[in-house]
Amino acid sequence: MATFTERMGPVLLFWLGLCLSGTWAVDKGNFKTCDQSAFCKRQRAITPGESPYRALLETMELTNTKLTLQLINDNNKVRLLLELYRLQGNITRVKINELKPLKPRYEVPDVLIREPPTEPLSLLSQDENGVVLSLGAESQRVIVSARPFRLDIVEGRDVLMSLNSRGLLGFEHLRMRKDTFSYKVTSTVASVWDNIKRVFSSSQADPEADNKEATDPPSQVETTKEEEEKVEDGMWEETFKSHTDSKPNGPSAVSLDFSLPGVEHVYGIPEHADTLKLKTTDSGDPYRLYNLDVFQYELYNPMALYGSVPVMLAHNAQRTTGIFWLNAAETWVDISSNTAGKTVFGKMLDYVQGSSETPQTDVRWISESGIIDVFLMLGPTPREVFSQYASLTGTQAFPPLASLGYHQCRWNYNDQEDVRAVDAGFDEHDIPYDFIWLDIEHTDGKRYFTWDPHKFASPKEMLQGLMDKKRKMVAIVDPHIKVDTNYKIHNEIRSRGFYIKNKDGADYEGWCWPGSAGYPDFTRPDMRAWWAGQFAYDQYEGSMENLYTWNDMNEPSVFNGPEVTMHKDALHGSWEHRDMHNLYGFYVQMATAQGLIERSGGVERPFVLTRAVFAGSQRLGAVWTGDNAAEWDHLKISIPMCLSLGLVGISFCGADVGGFFKSPSSELLVRWYQTGAYQPFFRAHAHLDTPRREPWLFGPENTALIREAVRQRYTFLPYWYQLFYHAYQTGEPVMRPLWVEYPQDPATFALDDEFLLGRDLLVHPVTEEGARGVTAYLPGKDEVWFDIHTFQKHNGVQNLYIPVTMSSIPVFQRGGSIIPRKLRVRRSSACMEDDPYTLYVALDNRRTAEGELYIDDGHTFNFEKREFIHRKFSFTNNVLSSVNLEPDAQFTTKSWVERIIILGASKPSKITLRTAGKLLVLLFTI
Ligand code: NOJ
Repeated sequence: MATFTERMGPVLLFWLGLCLSGTWAVDKGNFKTCDQSAFCKRQRAITPGESPYRALLETMELTNTKLTLQLINDNNKVRLLLELYRLQGNITRVKINELKPLKPRYEVPDVLIREPPTEPLSLLSQDENGVVLSLGAESQRVIVSARPFRLDIVEGRDVLMSLNSRGLLGFEHLRMRKDTFSYKVTSTVASVWDNIKRVFSSSQADPEADNKEATDPPSQVETTKEEEEKVEDGMWEETFKSHTDSKPNGPSAVSLDFSLPGVEHVYGIPEHADTLKLKTTDSGDPYRLYNLDVFQYELYNPMALYGSVPVMLAHNAQRTTGIFWLNAAETWVDISSNTAGKTVFGKMLDYVQGSSETPQTDVRWISESGIIDVFLMLGPTPREVFSQYASLTGTQAFPPLASLGYHQCRWNYNDQEDVRAVDAGFDEHDIPYDFIWLDIEHTDGKRYFTWDPHKFASPKEMLQGLMDKKRKMVAIVDPHIKVDTNYKIHNEIRSRGFYIKNKDGADYEGWCWPGSAGYPDFTRPDMRAWWAGQFAYDQYEGSMENLYTWNDMNEPSVFNGPEVTMHKDALHGSWEHRDMHNLYGFYVQMATAQGLIERSGGVERPFVLTRAVFAGSQRLGAVWTGDNAAEWDHLKISIPMCLSLGLVGISFCGADVGGFFKSPSSELLVRWYQTGAYQPFFRAHAHLDTPRREPWLFGPENTALIREAVRQRYTFLPYWYQLFYHAYQTGEPVMRPLWVEYPQDPATFALDDEFLLGRDLLVHPVTEEGARGVTAYLPGKDEVWFDIHTFQKHNGVQNLYIPVTMSSIPVFQRGGSIIPRKLRVRRSSACMEDDPYTLYVALDNRRTAEGELYIDDGHTFNFEKREFIHRKFSFTNNVLSSVNLEPDAQFTTKSWVERIIILGASKPSKITLRTAGKLLVLLFTI
């Protein structure tokens, strides 16, 4: 058999070459700028204030739940159909498609959890300039202006959002290619046209003004007009580096602008390695959403990364809103602001002189194909926006409790003996962990679902060894399948016709880890069902119930493809890859999670880690931020990257602890463990070429510091679990920016170095090299915050300077909260199942506190059958009481509350416990 290097040839050498050279820089030339992406360039060139679109008011139809209205482009006479729905929960949906497209345009399936329920719409007024509708129960109206077309959503006297107010609506209608079709009216076209005219004349009472347009041909017979249109480079074919994208459907981009009056802060649209608050893009490229395997990604720029979630949140002290642009094609987002660049002094002067113009942020979304389908989530609070988005795309999957513990990974653990030794190392150094991970080298020649016959000859023995210690394993299963007729998985996919096809209809092949590989078409439900079946214990040899899955490279990564991904003209049935590129990874994770559920007969909750995500991925598992580096800035950026994902529903996020490329100093490694211990997905990982870095390899002092960080994580597992249960119920992020809880405090709007876990823990990790102290912003003028280590009490609002040593992890518990913890840390979370709880009761200024405790079996779906305990604790008037929040739910646990720690209380003379009618006097210390 050829060696890996022989098969991979130059591709691999290039990859490793850069790793070893130690230079850190993305090769920007491998990835397109907006200018190099023909549709982005065309749409970005549209001049503001010259919209050719007009609403044809006479075509308006209004039912109880839906407004439809035709728009016409006065330059080419092509008509669009606008649909507007008021959805339950203060959401307005606007869809714009061609009235009569030459062929159907892609509408994203499977992301919405259901057809969103509507609410009534009613007409308030109408004249020749436009229409005013009332939106649902709120005092909201939508104003549709006709010339040029624009939509304004108004509440009371405030404009919440305007669409096409800058006139940047662009909709490239599908058309015939000129050099393959000349418009001499052939008999077919003539008869189609005759038919259309007949339909128009019988169904439309022609209003005078638009009589001409009404009988104009729809877009598929617009060829005469189109011939007058400029054919630009890149409309029918586009070359980037050595790749030519054939564009059989020609130009098909859509774009639209949104104005957000009163808004200076916008967030979201992950995944980018950038600040939490998004920047204006006037002087550079727009933020790009196109799932890509970017080698050595650079920080603080808008380049695309592995995932794309087309959701933006806008926030000011009065209101939070959101825009969900449901389009899975390559997308670019421009942001501009009338206050950008104004100094604080300038803003103050405006204010004092009373001359301030209202701040406003304008955004423009541009997608390569598909339709405009946009959900305007109108808040008004951050919580309501989360709930609105969750009502559309679902909430965070409720993960198995163990997956909230610590994960030990590297590329690669070499063989079973290595796994055994690392596992034993954790016991020897008294560090808990739950999962050990195997990367691609564990397979038989990068054939997923197999094991290297020499290095992993008896996987069940290995898994049983872990199971005996109540630990688990994750093995990687990537979506590229080695083209090898001796490989069962390949043969089956091929014989069932499940591979994505290239533009000529043959199975698409690209280069990835195994050499030549096919890419299963995960958009097909039958393919997903088949893939899911491969996780059955009798199919996936060597697997056991404590083996879980990691889906990597699912952008998809194609080493020799354009921008290291799939050709856009590859085919998923009749759809081009172009239409749904950003959805591929979502489907891979969906099929995998389905497999893990099915293998247990629907009983066990899955755990699947993915690199590529789209809107809705939160329903499927966890995500990590890909190939970062062992650098301080990469540690820092893990905070805004995970916060941004959390804001758009994806709570289960983490970054490779220690940094993937390069080797961390022991200081950086320790700081990274300390930060990761307080981020949702907590996994150490390292590149194949890096020296080993298990936690005990950096000397006893550092081992102790890492041990302490990991142990802190384990003590908080009950809180993490409850937060995830809450995220599963509500869509609220687990790790959240401070402004989510303090929405009226502008000082919280752009914080990148601290965050909240739920409402009650504030974390300001140390992310500076050589730090002697950090300054944490403690919000809330009525709040008090308790240092979780020293129990020292601090008032909000203040910037608190905290001197730090290497053992410091600045974390504060909010006064007014009760947090359950388990202080008897053991080998793994499962070993702590029956252990007792300690309640940390932190009193607020009114000497009250509240908190919750959620308990279930930690791993099955039985919680859906209401097998759980969910209690609420309240402390008031010196009495701590507990009520059952969901009395119809039932679960039996061996755990109990062994200790209560009250922070901020004055010295009591006596403490009594009243239970089952008895009164007991309790011991206490101060
Ligand atoms: C790329 C992933 O991002 C990385 O985490 C993994 O180790 C390698 N692929 C090898 O599978």
